[in-house]
Amino acid sequence: MHTGMVDFGIHANMTDERSIDHDGGILEYSRRKGTTIQTWSPFQYGMFEGTFIDNDKFPELNKKLAELADKYGVSKNGIATAWILRHPAQMQVIIGTMNPDHIKDSAAGADVKLTNQEWYDVYFSAGNTLP
Ligand SMILES: NC(=O)c1ccc[n+]([C@@H]2O[C@H](COP(=O)([O-])OP(=O)(O)OC[C@H]3O[C@@H](n4cnc5c(N)ncnc54)[C@H](OP(=O)(O)O)[C@@H]3O)[C@@H](O)[C@H]2O)c1
Repeated sequence: MHTGMVDFGIHANMTDERSIDHDGGILEYSRRKGTTIQTWSPFQYGMFEGTFIDNDKFPELNKKLAELADKYGVSKNGIATAWILRHPAQMQVIIGTMNPDHIKDSAAGADVKLTNQEWYDVYFSAGNTLP
């Protein structure tokens, strides 16, 4: 739900809102320098609002996560994890749950390799766009 660092690269050389670099090129810099980015709150949206998983506010996203979860035999957490891990920056996913089932569900995403189309389908289903 929060993809600003990724949007900037996708919307390169455009003039729309997502083309603005809010992060001083930290993603590109880290890739060049071999520094690993850690993604905190991977299942949350906003500042304190809660998780997007099974949240009625995000029907399209949950539909897509459910479809891919079914295909790969994992949970929605697993697909959200796989989405982050599929980015070429090889980011680490920092999860906050203390629930053993949610830990297992999320970790299972490390064995899922989404196709490029699936990666973009998840991106779109969260309300993101291409230029
Ligand atoms: N440096 C910073 O600025 C910064 C900012 C934010 C966070 N962090 C740190 O990053 C770490 C991770 O952050 P986070 O805890 O926000 O990560 P998170 O894993 O995105 O969120 C954890 C929350 O999501 C819930 N959740 C996960 N899967 C769920 C599911 N399938 N159904 C319902 N609820 C689900 C968990 O509930 P359950 O416990 O019931 O599973 C828990 O309340 C924390 O250590 C945090 O302190 C750092």
